[in-house]
Formats: sequence, structure tokens, C-alpha cells
Amino acid sequence: MIHGVVITIDGPAGTGKSSVASMLATRLGLDMLDTGAMYRALTLWALSHGVSSQDAEAVDRVTHACVVDFDFTVNPPRVMLDGRDVSTAIRSQAVTDHVSYVAAHRAVRERLVQAQRRIAAAHPWLVTEGRDQGSVVFPHAPVRIYLDARPEVRARRRCEQLVAQGERVDESEILASIIRRDALDAGRATGPLRCPEGAKVVDTSDMTQEQVVERLESIVRAMVGHTLGQRHARGTVPCA
Ligand code: DC
Repeated sequence: MIHGVVITIDGPAGTGKSSVASMLATRLGLDMLDTGAMYRALTLWALSHGVSSQDAEAVDRVTHACVVDFDFTVNPPRVMLDGRDVSTAIRSQAVTDHVSYVAAHRAVRERLVQAQRRIAAAHPWLVTEGRDQGSVVFPHAPVRIYLDARPEVRARRRCEQLVAQGERVDESEILASIIRRDALDAGRATGPLRCPEGAKVVDTSDMTQEQVVERLESIVRAMVGHTLGQRHARGTVPCA
């Protein structure tokens, strides 16, 4: 009896993880878990309770009280914070500016790692995306993918996004910040960014998004294609 298939997608910012994971999940008829959204939801909660994102003890204390859910009945799933749809609010600049501090707190990470495993137990046909999914959270997932891209390509993609939002950009500054963040992420004590052992590495530098999704789909079908016809029922599950 097959109980599901968890596909993890790890990698640094700017490799297109979220979009690709969502497109892959849709193609394969699987649920998609955006773990960055969980860190963002807790950040929104902490900020709205007047807590500094850098105060590990206070962030842990106030976020203990809140419940983050996903509503998997829609695609992409809605992010629910204590029953309120925060899918848009968690993308604000304030949350974006503070989330990496919140994501560095050990207690918060431990709680969300447990929550992610609970979600996978309730939604076992899953594509899950985040920088530690294959390396820490689901090291035994049957398909583990690591997306990578050259820093200058990731910087260019980021610039294109910002320009599309009407912002002025300095590409060399963005490249420097990506290189700095890679070093911080790789050196972080809890949940550092690293390529999961045995992962399929896909360098997206010279690929279109469509080509990346095609490539991932062929990897998944080659590895677990025989199990993909079976799906469990959908639902909403408390996750923090
Ligand atoms: O992918 P994103 O921008 O929504 O992620 C938000 C932040 O959370 C970003 O700083 C990376 C961090 N994150 C993490 O540390 N671990 C994860 N599994 C997912 C995201």
C-alpha cells in the first residue's frame, strides 16, 4: 500500500523554487507546500504584536499562541493565520524585511519543522519547497531536488522582478547582497542552506522556467512515476 510521495525542492533565493514547485505540483496533481509562507506568517504575527523580529525569546513566546493553517482546497493554497487569510499580507515589504531574522531563530524553526512534517502526514502527496526541505525536514523523501543558479543570473532575475514592480535597481549591489546572503545562509547554525545528500541538482542558469518544470517532471516521473496515480483526499490542517 502506497501512502504518498513527498518531493522536496531546496535551493537558494532566485532559483525560481516557488513558481517551479507550484507549476510542478499542478502538473502532477499534488499538493504544494510553500514553507517560506509559514515563516512569513509568524513574522506578520510577531510584527503585529509589536515584537522585534530579532528578539528570539519574544518571537518564540508570542508566536506560540498563533495557528497557521493552509487551505488546500484552492491552488495555490491560502495561508490562514488564526482563521484569517493572510496570503497577501505576508508578501508585504515589512514582512520581507524581517522574515530572515525570524527564520534564523532555533525555536521557531524547530516548531515549523514539526508543523511541516505534520502537514506532510495529512497531505502525503506533496511538493514541498524551502531551503531545508530535503536536507533537514524530509531527508528520506523519495525525490529530493536542489535548484541552483549562478549568482549573477539570480541577481539579474531579482532585478527584473524589481523593475517589473517599478523599482530602480543597481544590479551590482543586488549581486553583492546575494553573495553575502548565500554565505550567511550556508553558515547559519540552524537549518543552513546545503544540498541534500543524494539530491538531483538542476542548474537553472540557462533554462527557462518551462524548461525547468519539464526537467523536474521527467526526474519525478522516472523516479516515482508508478506511484503517482494515487492521491489522498484534500483538507485543511493546523500547522503551528
Ligand atoms: O521563500 P520566501 O522568500 O517566502 O522565504 C521567506 C524567508 O524564510 C526567507 O528568509 C527564507 C526563509 N525560509 C527558511 O529559512 N526556511 C524555509 N524552509 C523556507 C523559508
